[in-house]
Amino acid sequence: MARRRRCRAAARAVLALLALVAMPRPAAFLPAASRLGATAAGSVAALERAAGAEVSRRLAAWLPAQLCLLRSAAGASAAVAPAPGAVAVLGASGKTGRLCVEALRAEGSPALALGRAELDVVEASVEQVAEAVRGCQAVIFACSASAKGGNAAQVDEQAAVKAAQACKLAGVPTYVLISSGGVSRPGSLGYLATNWMPGPTWGIMDAKARGEEGVKAAMRGSGTRYVVLRPGGLEDTKYLGPAEMELNQGDAVGGLVSRADVAACAVAAAKSQDAADTTFELYAHSAFSQGPGSTDGFGGATGKTGYERRGESWPELFRGLRKEISKI
Ligand SMILES: NC(=O)c1ccc[n+]([C@@H]2O[C@H](COP(=O)([O-])OP(=O)(O)OC[C@H]3O[C@@H](n4cnc5c(N)ncnc54)[C@H](OP(=O)(O)O)[C@@H]3O)[C@@H](O)[C@H]2O)c1
Repeated sequence: MARRRRCRAAARAVLALLALVAMPRPAAFLPAASRLGATAAGSVAALERAAGAEVSRRLAAWLPAQLCLLRSAAGASAAVAPAPGAVAVLGASGKTGRLCVEALRAEGSPALALGRAELDVVEASVEQVAEAVRGCQAVIFACSASAKGGNAAQVDEQAAVKAAQACKLAGVPTYVLISSGGVSRPGSLGYLATNWMPGPTWGIMDAKARGEEGVKAAMRGSGTRYVVLRPGGLEDTKYLGPAEMELNQGDAVGGLVSRADVAACAVAAAKSQDAADTTFELYAHSAFSQGPGSTDGFGGATGKTGYERRGESWPELFRGLRKEISKI
């Protein structure tokens, strides 16, 4: 009888623990999750004592896996603590974000991959974002409005600025914002067509333009450097490399570019002194265009701005970038 009672108590405890493990753990709740996880991990020892030999035997096949999950819940904060000098990627579950993490790992650099599950950039406070990225050498913001939650104003503007303020607060040296070509050309067809697409991205160009300005304002006079990377139209094509790219400034011309090249450029810019406090466009030079349906002087008759940069490597492309040019 006593044994049956012990078994029932053990089963109830296991169910409670499983419910705890299955609970979503957004970053905003990580400290609480850690405490709960730690408590839960303690309960497991009690469970093992209460359950008795028979129950222990029955549970033996699957309990280790649950213990493992519980311990990872208990150590959730530790699991996302950055390695010294890591580059954090916000929006690491997105297409470009994931490629940023891959590019970092491919070159052997420590990466702190923060997808929505680890850090919801809309829900989290500046302090929580700062805590998540403290100790990093750079943060790349690869988030954008999503049907899963977070419209353009919340993500592309407010969260982009929040992450910049967090870098400042945490003393992260460099913040790379992935923005978009054309954001300073509200009269262009490209801007209008992208801005007024129905759905969560509604108003995205307006939001990105305000986001860029907010980021620069947040960084002014701080110890943190910013890089505003404005890719042209994104494609999921293969990585071409820096020798196939053109950097430009003034937001007057653009073209297509693969997400893999954008990611590699963001990672290189995160570590570059020459890219610090610059705003530039990126596109494959074979895919150059005079802007996405210009109506207000995209590149003039020649399609040239005078700020074109080509080179064999990312550092070479960054060398000579002008500070503080965002529109010509
Ligand atoms: N598409 C183009 O042609 C183009 C052109 C120029 C620039 N861009 C810009 O380039 C960047 C990368 O684009 P992409 O297509 O590679 O991005 P993407 O795949 O759409 O990724 C965006 C990421 O942001 C995340 N996110 C949204 N709200 C979030 C929140 N509240 N907390 C945490 N994460 C959140 C999304 O997470 P979930 O998956 O969980 O929602 C997603 O992983 C974006 O800024 C985009 O606007 C795009």
